[in-house]
Amino acid sequence: MGSVARHRAENTAGSQVLSQIGFGTYKLAAPRCTKAILEAISAGYCLFDTAQLYETEKQLGQAIRLSGVPRADFVVTTKIKKIQTGLSPYDACLSSIDKFGGYVDLFLIHTPFPKQQAEFVWQALEQLLQEGKTMRIGVSNYGIKHLEDMKSYAVLWPPHVNQIELHPWCQQRELVKYCQTNNIAIQAYSPLATGQRLGDPTLLAIAQSHGKTPAQVLIRYSIQKGWVPLPKSATPHRIKENLDVFDFEISEQDMERLDALDEGKEGAVFKFNVH
Ligand SMILES: NC(=O)c1ccc[n+]([C@@H]2O[C@H](COP(=O)([O-])OP(=O)(O)OC[C@H]3O[C@@H](n4cnc5c(N)ncnc54)[C@H](OP(=O)(O)O)[C@@H]3O)[C@@H](O)[C@H]2O)c1
Repeated sequence: MGSVARHRAENTAGSQVLSQIGFGTYKLAAPRCTKAILEAISAGYCLFDTAQLYETEKQLGQAIRLSGVPRADFVVTTKIKKIQTGLSPYDACLSSIDKFGGYVDLFLIHTPFPKQQAEFVWQALEQLLQEGKTMRIGVSNYGIKHLEDMKSYAVLWPPHVNQIELHPWCQQRELVKYCQTNNIAIQAYSPLATGQRLGDPTLLAIAQSHGKTPAQVLIRYSIQKGWVPLPKSATPHRIKENLDVFDFEISEQDMERLDALDEGKEGAVFKFNVH
């Protein structure tokens, strides 16, 4: 596979683990999954978002090997979902890590566990970090209270990343401000609001004024906010389109028009994960 300029960049946490745009793999069922990931690698994505829950870790690992691109050029995020009977969180994480050549770049807790379990799982991630089996550790779907609770047991605080639902209709402003103040990098999941709001008139008007698609405006919006968007697509031309967002800028006035679309928790796709 030819060399492609990958979208790797320093981020707020000064971390190599973050890139400007990541490729989401939720609901990418096999065998479409491997094909879509290979398309994404060809297009130039280097950050890939998977999770034990998505059952796409194996396909992502395979696609990385098949691509011929060195493992070191990829930034792989995965997430631990739940404590399985008879398997420690540490061992559960190791089984994910084994699929990516012995390390991942970022391991997240997928959703908050009850406090006692949260401590136990975070300790496992801290151990994996110390052993170099993950380069960064973080959380997902954590609200301010979860992040504050961590202070009572975490050796490493703040977590490197909080991955949360973010797009104009769900901006979680207080949480975003808290993360930015505390140097917790923000990854924006469902940055296209799962495709449900692409016909919004304000969004369409802004897209038309730039000769871009609504999806491109949403990805650009995320980047200008300082978030790392993780769009998912199984469609080859959209996979490329979603990276083609570096030749325009949304004006301050249009950012404000998009900001005005916020519907709070009501605007979330995954309402149970917004606090
Ligand atoms: N941490 C968490 O709890 C959590 C929760 C949800 C998601 N995530 C992560 O975030 C990633 C993205 O979120 P998501 O998959 O929920 O939704 P999303 O990326 O906001 O939207 C995906 C939908 O938009 C469509 N789409 C993609 N590009 C498009 C374009 N250029 N034009 C028109 N439609 C387009 C896709 O269709 P096609 O595939 O048919 O092209 C798909 O139906 C996930 O895959 C996952 O990695 C994390």
